Amino acid sequence: QNEALARAESLIALTPDYPEPGVLFRDVSPMLADGPALRTVVEAMVAPYEGTFDIVAGIEARGFLLAGFAAALTGVGMMPIRKAGKLPRPAAAVSYALEYGTATIEAPGVLEGHERVLLFDDVLATGGTLAAAESLIADLGATVIGSAVILELEGLGGRAHVGDVHAVFTV
Ligand code: PRP
Ligand code: MG
Repeated sequence: QNEALARAESLIALTPDYPEPGVLFRDVSPMLADGPALRTVVEAMVAPYEGTFDIVAGIEARGFLLAGFAAALTGVGMMPIRKAGKLPRPAAAVSYALEYGTATIEAPGVLEGHERVLLFDDVLATGGTLAAAESLIADLGATVIGSAVILELEGLGGRAHVGDVHAVFTV
């Protein structure tokens, strides 16, 4: 790991006992607020996939800003994958299990001419969100060429439930 990445990682704020006692929450806000760190991390997310995708899809909410930055860096467009009920006419919807209950994500019908999709989110935990987004894109008839996240929480085993995923940092 190079110096710029190490510096970026040091800007992830460790917040004990959030959102519940015993949980050590990793807040990427200070890292996102730092220009060089933000650029370094998004470049690292894109690096393994350079030249292999036609669009970047970002999962609401932090996936949006990462995907937007990556799209600007690489000259492609971006597709927002939204929480249910935000899009006027979703082209596809997928529901997935949460710890309590279920969640639904939806996508607009914009993948015509953008067959190879790079998928972005901030964190890989159980993998439920990324797996749902992968099946959402498959339902739209496109191909997820891979995914990238800032942070993988390795102990939760999410990687087993998703396709190729590159994590910049792993804890
Ligand atoms: C968090 C995080 C990822 C997801 C990872 O989002 O931003 O999207 O959880 O968890 P998983 O791998 O177990 O699915 P969350 O659903 O809390 O909502 P938010 O992004 O709107 O904060
Ligand atoms: Mg999320």
